[in-house]
Amino acid sequence: MSYQQYVPYTPAAGRYDHMIYRRAGRSGLLFPAISLGLWHNFGDITPFKTQQEILRTAFDLGITHFDLANNYGPPYGEAERNFGEHVKRDWKPFRDELVISSKAGYDMWKGPYGDHGSRKYLMASIDQSLKRMNLDYVDIFYHHRPDNDTPIEETMGALYDIVKSGKALYAGISNYNPEQTEKAVACMKDMGMHLLIHQPNYSMLNRSVENGLTDVLRKEGVGMMAFGPLAGGRLTARYLDGIPADSRAGHDPRFLKASDITEELLTTVRRLNAVAARRGQTLAQLALVWTLRDPVVTSALIGASRASQIVENVKALENMTLSDEELREIDGILGK
Ligand SMILES: NC(=O)c1ccc[n+]([C@@H]2O[C@H](COP(=O)([O-])OP(=O)(O)OC[C@H]3O[C@@H](n4cnc5c(N)ncnc54)[C@H](OP(=O)(O)O)[C@@H]3O)[C@@H](O)[C@H]2O)c1
Repeated sequence: MSYQQYVPYTPAAGRYDHMIYRRAGRSGLLFPAISLGLWHNFGDITPFKTQQEILRTAFDLGITHFDLANNYGPPYGEAERNFGEHVKRDWKPFRDELVISSKAGYDMWKGPYGDHGSRKYLMASIDQSLKRMNLDYVDIFYHHRPDNDTPIEETMGALYDIVKSGKALYAGISNYNPEQTEKAVACMKDMGMHLLIHQPNYSMLNRSVENGLTDVLRKEGVGMMAFGPLAGGRLTARYLDGIPADSRAGHDPRFLKASDITEELLTTVRRLNAVAARRGQTLAQLALVWTLRDPVVTSALIGASRASQIVENVKALENMTLSDEELREIDGILGK
């Protein structure tokens, strides 16, 4: 990682002109319709300069939300450490214009206290995350995945205390199913706190949230941060002509392998691409508009390996209307 050739950052004056802001459920907090996650491309394999361009381009286009987790890397912790360096260089003066989140819930450090949902783990993890990111507080602290072996009162109690201590402003959950979500919301309500947001996976290739979760979120006034709306790049033109060496499936097989790019997938993607082209959009843009079509979705949480992808993705917001006919055609392509 090279920290040389630092050019001071002056954000674009018109940075709020391109973005649409949506409210997270019954809360006062607005999110950009497109948010940026640092799961990939912020570890030790991505040049610092590339990371900086991605973050600056996002903010210049009105993306005011950056999402992290304790174990983003590689190695674990490295995305937060790199982000902490960006905070020092670029973001301190703009902290009040940003919503920054982190999470704990997956394996992070050795032994019985660095995983799952205990108070012991969450309390230690928030302190570690703040230190790595050079922040006094995060805006949202999430429990990253449900833990049925830990009483929900213990996990939610830890989130509540983290918010009360000022280390986070709001609490969230991620990857909880509808029943687990109901329990978490009720538990927070009992303590007098509203659960701000849920972060589930949602894209044209994974519609499981439509089987109950969106109903719970609507009913309870909880926002939804839809992660992976481009299915890791599969819902873009990335793989239409083979597997580029610099793509996720081409160089980082941790979560997307070359073998995941099947002929069956490509047939679906080509058909969706034709729908997008007819609308004058790219497939990435159509995938984002589709994910945002239900107002219960507060924001589509994307990743990007280069700044140009963010420019393309934010342009999706110029045409957010999907006709009933287009929606039916997409359902048909997806076999719904
Ligand atoms: N809560 C959870 O359990 C959980 C799990 C996973 C992710 N997340 C969050 O969600 C965020 C996003 O996840 P994700 O990165 O998988 O999301 P995604 O938006 O579905 O995929 C992002 C990838 O798609 C490709 N891409 C983006 N825009 C493109 C464009 N215009 N044209 C072509 N390719 C494009 C890039 O891959 P290439 O590298 O191929 O260019 C990029 O890295 C994460 O950073 C994290 O914050 C949360």
